[in-house]
Parts: sequence; structure tokens; C-alpha cells
Amino acid sequence: MTDASGPPHHHEPGAHDLRPTVDTHAGDRRLVPWRRAPFPAPWGTWFGREAPLHLEIGFGDGRYTIRRALDEPNADFVGIEVSSVSVRRAVTKLRHHDLQNVRLVKGGAQIAVRQLFAPASLSSVTVNFPDPWPKDRHEDKRLLRVPFLTMLAGRLVPGGEIRLATDHPEYLTFSEAEVRASGWYAIEEREAPPAVFETKYATKWKEQGKPLHYRVFVRNDEPVPDIAPIGRPDIMPHALLQGSLPTTLTFEKVVNPVEEGHVILHDVAQRIDTDDTLWIRATVDEPDVTQQLLIVVQRRTDDWIVRVASFGDPLITPAVRGAVHAATEWLASLGTFDVTARNY
Ligand SMILES: C[S@@+](CC[C@H](N)C(=O)[O-])C[C@H]1O[C@@H](n2cnc3c(N)ncnc32)[C@H](O)[C@@H]1O
Repeated sequence: MTDASGPPHHHEPGAHDLRPTVDTHAGDRRLVPWRRAPFPAPWGTWFGREAPLHLEIGFGDGRYTIRRALDEPNADFVGIEVSSVSVRRAVTKLRHHDLQNVRLVKGGAQIAVRQLFAPASLSSVTVNFPDPWPKDRHEDKRLLRVPFLTMLAGRLVPGGEIRLATDHPEYLTFSEAEVRASGWYAIEEREAPPAVFETKYATKWKEQGKPLHYRVFVRNDEPVPDIAPIGRPDIMPHALLQGSLPTTLTFEKVVNPVEEGHVILHDVAQRIDTDDTLWIRATVDEPDVTQQLLIVVQRRTDDWIVRVASFGDPLITPAVRGAVHAATEWLASLGTFDVTARNY
């Protein structure tokens, strides 16, 4: 379909376009587009009150958090879940209730907790049936390890609790050892509340007749190091170049190590109606977060710009900066460009 006004303008990004997006109303929606939210998130503003805040990690189909939100109208509840299918199920379930005290977040808990919660803001964190990762070589994928327990200790109020239900004895032993090693919690064995027995996973587990282990890790008074959210830069990382694209473009996948992770540039696509825009598809992998990105290479009036596209609301981590660097180096390697500025 062609618009009467002709082909779309060649959009020329200025400084304004290079500013990262912040959506202060992000939390008005039940499923929070959290990567656009202020960090830490203004939960009090979003819920419209200051009330005890409880978090569930890995909420599955959401029934536990919804149950608690119904039972405790004077508290607010946030759920974080990494699986899209589970999030969709929970959002559907949530639609059946007129609940104002629940928000859901789709993402990995390690990065989402870091970004979204202020120090001493959480009353409790519930983890029902975390993935056990039973093989020894997968231990580092288990959720309740010292680094994450340390971050949670900073986000919990004094006396706040991590409540763990698991049917997996090795996971229990492992997490108790990590909790002791962290030094931030006392371990208590308690009766599991009834709602724990009603989660989707618990229902399956009951059919198999396996024992349930329930532990509460109570935050002690030891001061904990602050692990602040990754900040937003004033301007998105970019580089400026003089030159032109060569008549024949060649590209080979790039894999670069960066700090604690790595950057992969997978492939390059060119806009088909003009030859002045390229998109480079990248993956950046760091200990707590993996992100898919698009790096845009675009001709402007007097130069070319290489920048991170805001598409997908990436967090600007060291590896994201590394991806802009890798893209800039690839362009420089073509032999037809000079890099005149690097801002990443
Ligand atoms: C075994 S299921 C239990 C689900 C639910 N709690 C229940 O009891 O039915 C574990 C859940 O944790 C989620 N999960 C695993 N790692 C996660 C992470 N890093 N952040 C958020 N959710 C995670 C999985 O997607 C899965 O839904």
C-alpha cells in the first residue's frame, strides 16, 4: 500500500531519539512493561498506596499470587515469571478477578529484582517449586544461590522472609547451604500455608506422593552490600562515521568476549526501499541477563550513526555497549568508513 504523500521520510535521529525511553505509567497495566519503567519502580504510586509488598518468583499460572491477593486485600503483590506461556496463562486468570493489588512482570528474576525493587521494600519473597536443575553441571542455574540471596537480602525489609517450597531434597540441601554461606538469614522450618498445596505444580506433585519441604529464610540484621539497579545513560550508546557503504557488503558472524559475558552479532539486514539503513541482529549475554538487540546503522545528512535501537527496550549493560563497539568495528573493517566519534 502506498501513501499519497510518497515513501516514508528517511528518519534522522537527533539527540532526542537517542534518549532511552522511560514510561512512568508503565505500572498502570497488570502486566508491567518493566524495561521502560523507572528504576527502581514506583510501586507505591502504581498501586496508589503504601502497603506491604510481597513478591513471588516463578509464579507459573499465577494461581498462588492471585489467591494471596484475594485473601490479603491490604497488601500488594508482584509476580515475576520468565516463561511467556506461563505469563499468558496468569494474565488470563487475572482477568477473571477485579484485583487492584497485583502486578505481573515477565522476565528473569535476577535482573528484574535488581532493577525494580528499592532497598528494604519487600516484605516477603515466595519461591514455590523452583526448577531443581538436578544435574551437577547445572548447579549454577539454580535460583537460590549466594549472589541472588545477597540481592534479595538488600531488597527485603528487616525481618522479611524468603519462603521456599520444594519437592526436591537436593535442592533443599543446596539452598540451605547457600543461605548459610550468605550469612543474611536464619533458617526456620514451618508448616506450608494451604495455598502452596494448590499451585499447579503442587497438584501434580501430590499425585506422585512426594514429600513437600517448606522453609522460611528470615532476614537478619547484618548490613548487606547495596546492589543498585543498572542505571539508564542520558543518551543511548552510539558511534558516528564518515564514508559510504561499499558496493558489495560482506558479513561474518562476530563473537566477542566482554567483561563477564559475550556479544554475538548474528547477521545484517538492509532496508529494501533505500540503501541507507542496516540493522544488525545481536545477542548479548551477561551473568544475570541475556538480551536480543537490534543495532541500527543509518545514513544522516552529513554522516552515519551506529546506535542501539530502542526496540525491545534493552537495558544498557556493558555488553550492549560492547555490541555497538563490535558493530562499529565491523563497519570500520569494510575499509570505506572512518569512525569520528564513539559514545558507548
Ligand atoms: C517448576 S515451575 C513452578 C511453577 C509454580 N510456582 C507452581 O508451583 O506451579 C518453576 C517456574 O519458575 C519459572 N522460572 C525459572 N527460572 C526463573 C527465573 N530466573 N525468573 C523467573 N521465573 C523463573 C519457570 O518458568 C517455571 O514457571
